[in-house]
Amino acid sequence: MKVLVIGSGGREHAIAWKLLQSARVQQVFVAPGNGGTRADARLSTVSGVASGDFTALADFAQAEKIALTVVGPEGPLAAGVVDLFRARGLRVFGPTQAAAQLESSKAFAKAFMQRHGIPTAAHATFTDAAAAHAHIELHGAPIVIKADGLAAGKGVVVATTLEQAHAAIDAMLQPHAAGVMHNEGGARVVIEEFLAGEEASFIVLCDGKNVLSLATSQDHKRLLDHDEGPNTGGMGAYSPAPVVTPNVHARVMQDIIHPTIAGMAKDGVPFTGFLYAGLMIDAQGQPRTVEFNCRLGDPETQPILMRLKSDLFELLLRAADGRLDGAELQWDRRTALGVVMAAHGYPQAPRLGDRITGLPAEAADAMVFHAGTALEDAAGGGTVTAGGRVLCVTALGDSVKLAQQRAYEVLDGIRFNGAQFRRDIGHRAIKR
Ligand code: AMP
Ligand code: GLY
Repeated sequence: MKVLVIGSGGREHAIAWKLLQSARVQQVFVAPGNGGTRADARLSTVSGVASGDFTALADFAQAEKIALTVVGPEGPLAAGVVDLFRARGLRVFGPTQAAAQLESSKAFAKAFMQRHGIPTAAHATFTDAAAAHAHIELHGAPIVIKADGLAAGKGVVVATTLEQAHAAIDAMLQPHAAGVMHNEGGARVVIEEFLAGEEASFIVLCDGKNVLSLATSQDHKRLLDHDEGPNTGGMGAYSPAPVVTPNVHARVMQDIIHPTIAGMAKDGVPFTGFLYAGLMIDAQGQPRTVEFNCRLGDPETQPILMRLKSDLFELLLRAADGRLDGAELQWDRRTALGVVMAAHGYPQAPRLGDRITGLPAEAADAMVFHAGTALEDAAGGGTVTAGGRVLCVTALGDSVKLAQQRAYEVLDGIRFNGAQFRRDIGHRAIKR
């Protein structure tokens, strides 16, 4: 069978790489893909279709008799690509536009969690700046200010002082706040109680009713070592995350995941797709939901899929058809750890066009997933940077420490001008 993967990041490279391993998959198309998916002779690139042109993508899927389309990023999901494919009778895996609001609208997600008793930070939503300013004066810092709309991980300010909080409100309530796609009704901010604890990424596969949890993972959101510097889309991840003990896992399923899937179905917007709960786990092991995403995490997917032994195609096919009950997942017992190499100037203004050298051949225990890369020419020339997060160097090891060593050993052979990466990915799991 033929499959189509929509997206261009490291997550989509990993999804495509994993789908290739299925005995039932004959060809994997990626639209638009990146330098890494283009350089891989086993993958096919959909050319001549703009990534936002869903009608053209559906035409392609129809013409090529694609058995399953997998949507990687939140943008197309929030814009309704699944609804369009379904309306045309094409099999697609991902949430509908209405279900994707769990991620695309913080206000929707918060109201949903409140309605269904799902543990999360207390919050209030504002369109009026004066009311928002008064609210934080009342509550004090630390406090969290979020833009309501998709902002690629950059629409959140964890303010440690009231000055920072006031400035964030003013910035986010501007009609054209930098990098934020406002939802209908214009600019809105969500102001949240600050949650203390350790974060983890908890991702499940859903068919609208049944749920299968993937291996746990932990991301590193800050740009610099020791969790300093600005927030990014994620600078590295590893799986499993020891903070999610069996007891915490059971609480997350019972208090967060099952009520969410049941709540969405009850509200008439059943969730089919990957549901990603960003968790904050406090010192007592009590999990709270920081946010929902309606897709796999990037870079979490890269280590998670390196550990997945089951056939991803089979699973997604079953999920898309509502047949997940009874499905099971097999995992490599080792730890997988991925380190992101980002471009000079990321996250504010990534520089493009830096030449990348030293990319290694694929190995059984190490894989370099591409994100913001491009090939210099159609003939396959060199690889250059073409986005903020450039590569995710991912390796398996018998412990976090060994996976970390192996990932950095591979990373140290790769060069491009201005490369930024952290040296401490996995540090929380190593300290334990
Ligand atoms: P979000 O986009 O909602 O995931 O927020 C981005 C990051 O901000 C999260 O990964 C957390 O590190 C931090 N954050 C968001 N909300 C809170 C909160 N209520 N308390 C503490 N940290 C938060
Ligand atoms: N790594 C965080 C995310 O994918 O949202």
